[in-house]
Amino acid sequence: MDHLLVLLLLSSGLQAEGKHNSTESVRLVGGDSRCAGSLELKHQGDWKQVSDTHWNLKKAAVACKELDCGSAVSVGWREESSDRSVWKIKYDCVQSGSALRECARSDSSSTIVNLNCSESVRLVNGTSLCSGRLEVKTNQSPQRWSSVCEADFDQQDAEVVCRELGCGAPSVLQGVHYGEVEVPMWTKELQCGGHESALLDCRSSGSDINVTCSPGKVVGLTCSEPVRLVGGDSRCAGIVELKHLDWRPVINYDITPETAAATCKELDCGSAVSVDGKEESSYRDMWRVSSDCVQSGTVLRDCVTPWHFHIALNLTCSDLFQPNISVSSSMDGDSEAQQQRFQVFRGSTFNISCSIQPQYPGGSFQLTFTSSNSAHNYTQPAVNHSAHFLFPAAEPVHHGKYSCVYHVSVLSHNFSSESHLLSLAVSDLLLPPNISLDGDSEAQQQGFRVFRGSTFNISCFIQPQYPGGSFQLTFTSSNSAHNYTMPAVNHSAHFLFPAAEPAHQGIYSCVYHVSVLSHNFSSESHLLSLTIIDPTPFIIRAVVLPLTLLLVNAALYLYCKVLTRLLFGPLTEMKHAVC
Ligand SMILES: *[C@@H]1O[C@H](CO)[C@@H](O)[C@H](O)[C@H]1NC(C)=O
Ligand SMILES: *[C@@H]1O[C@H](CO)[C@@H](O)[C@H](O)[C@H]1NC(C)=O
Ligand SMILES: *[C@@H]1O[C@H](CO)[C@@H](O)[C@H](O)[C@H]1NC(C)=O
Ligand SMILES: *[C@@H]1O[C@H](CO)[C@@H](O)[C@H](O)[C@H]1NC(C)=O
Ligand SMILES: *[C@@H]1O[C@H](CO)[C@@H](O)[C@H](O)[C@H]1NC(C)=O
Ligand SMILES: *[C@@H]1O[C@H](CO)[C@@H](O)[C@H](O)[C@H]1NC(C)=O
Ligand SMILES: *[C@@H]1O[C@H](CO)[C@@H](O)[C@H](O)[C@H]1NC(C)=O
Ligand SMILES: *[C@@H]1O[C@H](CO)[C@@H](O)[C@H](O)[C@H]1NC(C)=O
Ligand SMILES: *[C@@H]1O[C@H](CO)[C@@H](O)[C@H](O)[C@H]1NC(C)=O
Ligand SMILES: *[C@@H]1O[C@H](CO)[C@@H](O)[C@H](O)[C@H]1NC(C)=O
Ligand SMILES: *[C@@H]1O[C@H](CO)[C@@H](O)[C@H](O)[C@H]1NC(C)=O
Ligand SMILES: *[C@@H]1O[C@H](CO)[C@@H](O)[C@H](O)[C@H]1NC(C)=O
Repeated sequence: MDHLLVLLLLSSGLQAEGKHNSTESVRLVGGDSRCAGSLELKHQGDWKQVSDTHWNLKKAAVACKELDCGSAVSVGWREESSDRSVWKIKYDCVQSGSALRECARSDSSSTIVNLNCSESVRLVNGTSLCSGRLEVKTNQSPQRWSSVCEADFDQQDAEVVCRELGCGAPSVLQGVHYGEVEVPMWTKELQCGGHESALLDCRSSGSDINVTCSPGKVVGLTCSEPVRLVGGDSRCAGIVELKHLDWRPVINYDITPETAAATCKELDCGSAVSVDGKEESSYRDMWRVSSDCVQSGTVLRDCVTPWHFHIALNLTCSDLFQPNISVSSSMDGDSEAQQQRFQVFRGSTFNISCSIQPQYPGGSFQLTFTSSNSAHNYTQPAVNHSAHFLFPAAEPVHHGKYSCVYHVSVLSHNFSSESHLLSLAVSDLLLPPNISLDGDSEAQQQGFRVFRGSTFNISCFIQPQYPGGSFQLTFTSSNSAHNYTMPAVNHSAHFLFPAAEPAHQGIYSCVYHVSVLSHNFSSESHLLSLTIIDPTPFIIRAVVLPLTLLLVNAALYLYCKVLTRLLFGPLTEMKHAVC
């Protein structure tokens, strides 16, 4: 269906303008039609040209409306050879709804403004000059602006309208309720091929037919801004160029963060990453943004004025919005943290959430992890533009940096966008407990020795941090292992072994277990090494050996005595000297 039905709606609000009776006081001269040319105002009986070096489409739109022309399509100004008496327009006066001539003051200048308005098509009540409810001026007499029935309007028709208004390609085409407006009187059928430069150039059936707009909606249309980024690495980075009559760079002055953000968004390029100036080799025709025009979110096109300059606006947008990364921990009562450093306790549950502003459906989130000695990626599909990565128990291996990378495929192009980095530190909630043998915690390096058969006592102690809890005494040896458990009393526990056995020889440690906010934590002491020594070798060493030595010495003495008596007889002086 490439035909168009134009409905003439009889309604006071939609009838020809003339509110300010200004057809008598505004005119465009020297153009191709009454809707193009240099702007002249009749004020206090004088026709004079209008001068404004910050002349832009928003201001031109006021003149187009007073002239009962369509939308403002392009603006320009030129230098005349000499100064002349002109009207200057106070913009805030115009903005408040006053007629142009009421806002004029006499001045002298050589700069003369001109403009082109569309003749028979306009968009009204939109957020910019490129959006709104479509109205067409029929060439029947009397000429009237009428809405267009949604049901019979298609993409090709929209292309013609957007082109005629000097906007970019159509982006949103939707019905608008015409509510209080009265029944359509007649319709006129048009058939656009899509390539026409003006809607009234489209073929017309010529026959009037009687239809009402069903289901009661007229055309609302949004054309994109004719803006592009050139010379960058991607379609989302480079010098900002805007098309009015031709493509020209935009000057980097008066660009607010909101305007940069709106431009990136307009280009479906996510958010603005950087804004700076690019020096050109020479002065050339550019567009300058008028600061008095730009309000938050205003599109560039409505607010630029032709300028001769040499520094262009270089804008870098992220292809996509930047995803958010946040972490919540069970120990934190589920409070979420978006700060860049976060601490979780060993053993606690933590939950890393990735989310992105809705932009495209689907996609997936990749959680990347890097630490000094390892790296890992986890992937989950995006559900409602977010994903949650749950870690049931924090361990030291989770210590490192995390980021969320959103991947999405749009029109068979893969895009991805990464969040900022989040540093996660895993620390122990509990201090390590102390282990001691019979109250002695020194000599842990060399180990403890206990006599076989004797009583020994291994004590576990922890600095008071949390009430309750229990101690587990773990034991391992070359051929066995055992755990003993006791509740913590006064933050300690004593494991009594009434008689040391060789089976008790091995490595001991105290493990303290406690539940905090319904999470279990534990912490382990140093290792204690225990050797069981047999008492028998001691008896031999302490009693048998000294006794043997004594007997041997006594035997040698007697032997010496006997020998000396045999050799020297009664010579007692000699025998005393030898033995
Ligand atoms: C418009 O102006 C003309 C003369 O300039 C005057 O006769 C006419 O009444 C005015 N119309 C309105 C609606 O103000
Ligand atoms: C108006 O349109 C004509 C024809 O497209 C063009 O030559 C002229 O420069 C335009 N004027 C302005 C002020 O944009
Ligand atoms: C549309 O704009 C006209 C003036 O241009 C205004 O009177 C009217 O209230 C607006 N309607 C809506 C729905 O905004
Ligand atoms: C359209 O309908 C109106 C009233 O419903 C009628 O007066 C008019 O003659 C009709 N026009 C045509 C062309 O049928
Ligand atoms: C534009 O800015 C980006 C980011 O600052 C930079 O990498 C790039 O080189 C600039 N391009 C030009 C043409 O200056
Ligand atoms: C993870 O955190 C998010 C946001 O705080 C929450 O919606 C989600 O239910 C949590 N997931 C789990 C398994 O706790
Ligand atoms: C991301 O974080 C910012 C600021 O921290 C917040 O304003 C925004 O709403 C968040 N976006 C999403 C999708 O959670
Ligand atoms: C994780 O993914 C990134 C790309 O997103 C890749 O460069 C990196 O090698 C991956 N790392 C691991 C450990 O798979
Ligand atoms: C996604 O969001 C919608 C609306 O907010 C909700 O009804 C739905 O349950 C959500 N789905 C999931 C899986 O969270
Ligand atoms: C996009 O990614 C998907 C898988 O993630 C891959 O199969 C496909 O080839 C990619 N397309 C392009 C154009 O790189
Ligand atoms: C526990 O051991 C630490 C060092 O390991 C020591 O500083 C502390 O005093 C000990 N506490 C007790 C109660 O023995
Ligand atoms: C002792 O407890 C630890 C956990 O604390 C466990 O890994 C080990 O298997 C247990 N050993 C025995 C022999 O029960």
